[in-house]
Amino acid sequence: MLLHATFCLILSVLLFPNSSAISSPIQPYTSYRYSTELQSNVADLWWTVNETKQEIIFELHMKTTGWIALGISPAGGMKGADIGLGWVDQKGQVHFQDRYAKNYTRPIVDTTTSDWFGLQGREENGWTAIQFKRLLDTCDTMDVPIKSGTNILIFAYGLEDPDMSEPQGIIYYHDNRRGSRIIPLRSYGNPSPEDKFAGLDYFDFQLNNYNVPVDSTTYHCKVYKVPSNLTERRHAIAHKTIIGEGNIDIVHHLLMYECNPTAVFDDNNLPDGLCDAIYQQLTECSANIATGWAVGGDHIVEFPEIAGYPVGGDFEIKYYMIQMHYDNPKQLSNRRDNSGIRFYLGKELRQEELGYLTLGADSTPVSIAIPPRSDRFVIDSYCTASATKVIPKSGITVTTAFPHTHLQGRTVWTKIIRNGTAVDYLFNGDAYDFNYQFENRLPKPVKLYPGDELATRCVYNTMDKNQTTTGGERTQDEMCLHMFTYYPRMKNMYGCMMLIPDAIWAQKMNISQESFDYLKLKKWLVDLQWTPESVLQWQEFYNDASRLLLSGRAGNFTIDLLPRLPTYKDLQPAECKSDARPNTAAHQHAFTTFTLIPFFIIFAMNMFARK
Ligand SMILES: *[C@@H]1O[C@H](CO)[C@@H](O)[C@H](O)[C@H]1NC(C)=O
Ligand SMILES: *[C@@H]1O[C@H](CO)[C@@H](O)[C@H](O)[C@H]1NC(C)=O
Ligand SMILES: *[C@@H]1O[C@H](CO)[C@@H](O)[C@H](O)[C@H]1NC(C)=O
Ligand SMILES: *[C@@H]1O[C@H](CO)[C@@H](O)[C@H](O)[C@H]1NC(C)=O
Ligand SMILES: *[C@@H]1O[C@H](CO)[C@@H](O)[C@H](O)[C@H]1NC(C)=O
Ligand SMILES: *[C@@H]1O[C@H](CO)[C@@H](O)[C@H](O)[C@H]1NC(C)=O
Ligand SMILES: *[C@@H]1O[C@H](CO)[C@@H](O)[C@H](O)[C@H]1NC(C)=O
Repeated sequence: MLLHATFCLILSVLLFPNSSAISSPIQPYTSYRYSTELQSNVADLWWTVNETKQEIIFELHMKTTGWIALGISPAGGMKGADIGLGWVDQKGQVHFQDRYAKNYTRPIVDTTTSDWFGLQGREENGWTAIQFKRLLDTCDTMDVPIKSGTNILIFAYGLEDPDMSEPQGIIYYHDNRRGSRIIPLRSYGNPSPEDKFAGLDYFDFQLNNYNVPVDSTTYHCKVYKVPSNLTERRHAIAHKTIIGEGNIDIVHHLLMYECNPTAVFDDNNLPDGLCDAIYQQLTECSANIATGWAVGGDHIVEFPEIAGYPVGGDFEIKYYMIQMHYDNPKQLSNRRDNSGIRFYLGKELRQEELGYLTLGADSTPVSIAIPPRSDRFVIDSYCTASATKVIPKSGITVTTAFPHTHLQGRTVWTKIIRNGTAVDYLFNGDAYDFNYQFENRLPKPVKLYPGDELATRCVYNTMDKNQTTTGGERTQDEMCLHMFTYYPRMKNMYGCMMLIPDAIWAQKMNISQESFDYLKLKKWLVDLQWTPESVLQWQEFYNDASRLLLSGRAGNFTIDLLPRLPTYKDLQPAECKSDARPNTAAHQHAFTTFTLIPFFIIFAMNMFARK
């Protein structure tokens, strides 16, 4: 528990690195799909994932001529790390080792299988560069699989090579030479450097010196009009989330909505205030989610080259709404904020136009009611063939996925169902972490066709709760949203969301449907007393209850009643391809092995028990 608590603290003090600046003076061995600066002027990482081979190749550069190390930690709970550690010796020979620290106090050295493999390495200008690889899932229960979704990376280095004068080898650990980074290795957005967009026209939807309330949770909503000088339709090719200076600790997320084309406002007095207070003015703007950013995510998102986000001129959307979520548990005062979003406009129109599609459950107590003390509560939603018939015959291409839940969420995924059979994931946010949310770039764009069905699952853990968690907007409420970017844009399809009908709840509450309302339901849910049995029964209720399916766009939703959630033939559980493991014997003699137990005790303890 103590370690868990300190871990959370570490997460909250991490700095957000600048996007993709690379400082290593060494040229990487090959070109990689992704790269990022792990630590300014200290550590850079490149990597490529081969989903067919289920393999990942890394190249790590660190500013040292001693040892360097990269580890994978299981997302969510920080129980230990799977670590590759290497160095280049005096003769220029590269050494690389698979190490494992399953526990803080009792690190286990994996001597049976080696799952990290050094490929090549060199030292230059005081830096060390090593290329190495690993299977995504080594099939070894003593290893940490690199799941799809968000991964926790740790890195460290020493100033000297291990001292080989003793048979076990000695590694000198130096306290500050380590760090941590949370990143989706298999779906990283690989943001372009901002200077790529220098010189382009842009516009901002930004707050103006907003006085953030002294409340632990604030939802601020503001409507923006498309800039008046965009008299011709343009295509945005990228956007940048702007976080007001000094406010990274309280800006939790922002969501941009497109208001309905029918929305009319007084342009001199656009709605601007606490979302709940101005809710009635926002009915035309609060259903069609466009894009967003949440804590931990990359600030720059560039669109695929073929498509742009239409804005201005004859484009039907004239107003946008940005909902800012401030998370201010310390109730800090005197915070002024200018956060918002910037769109960079391309010089020419692109071939296709982007749209946004949201799947999941409505963010209300009728959709989401999770019992406490459940280590795995599942809420499923389903988008049916009749809802997806609006997809054009030639299909749409989905390029990014943005899963979103609040604190209790652990997994968010969507599967594609064709003719009653799951054919693939649209995106699998297997390892979801509320503190690190990303607009994930799909490893390969995915095509969807009319009649395709989409099953979305959110999995929650409420072991730290003692009351029902209900759907809603506060951080302590829950959500189940899976948002996608795609092209070509569909006019009448923003969302496909599920909820449990009022009648079912009224029956459950044993009241008449006429006397049912959300407030009553919420109070009833929160007052429920739970036992382990009733928690299990609640899951069965959720699995079996009938559903309402809302699909389309705000003001024009189609509502279907489904007597129960559709069932489908599931994907075959992914086989762990252990035979794809490289021949370990061949590698063993090339790389010195020795145990590092004393080092790893210190390594792990310093890594995780930092205040
Ligand atoms: C992945 O590995 C397979 C099998 O070796 C190979 O054919 C394919 O080209 C690789 N893909 C990428 C993107 O490197
Ligand atoms: C990890 O360490 C804790 C505390 O010493 C111990 O209770 C637990 O059993 C260990 N877990 C494993 C998998 O060794
Ligand atoms: C619109 O006007 C703003 C300043 O008022 C300017 O920064 C921007 O470049 C203009 N945009 C276009 C497309 O002309
Ligand atoms: C769907 O499945 C049914 C029964 O398995 C089969 O008869 C039918 O041909 C399939 N349709 C398509 C479009 O694959
Ligand atoms: C429920 O949990 C909250 C905080 O997690 C705590 O303040 C409260 O005392 C708990 N209530 C009960 C009845 O355990
Ligand atoms: C439901 O309410 C009715 C009337 O209020 C009562 O007679 C009945 O016992 C209740 N049933 C349950 C299961 O609570
Ligand atoms: C409402 O949506 C349907 C498709 O679901 C579309 O045919 C119709 O034109 C839409 N109506 C309006 C007013 O947008």
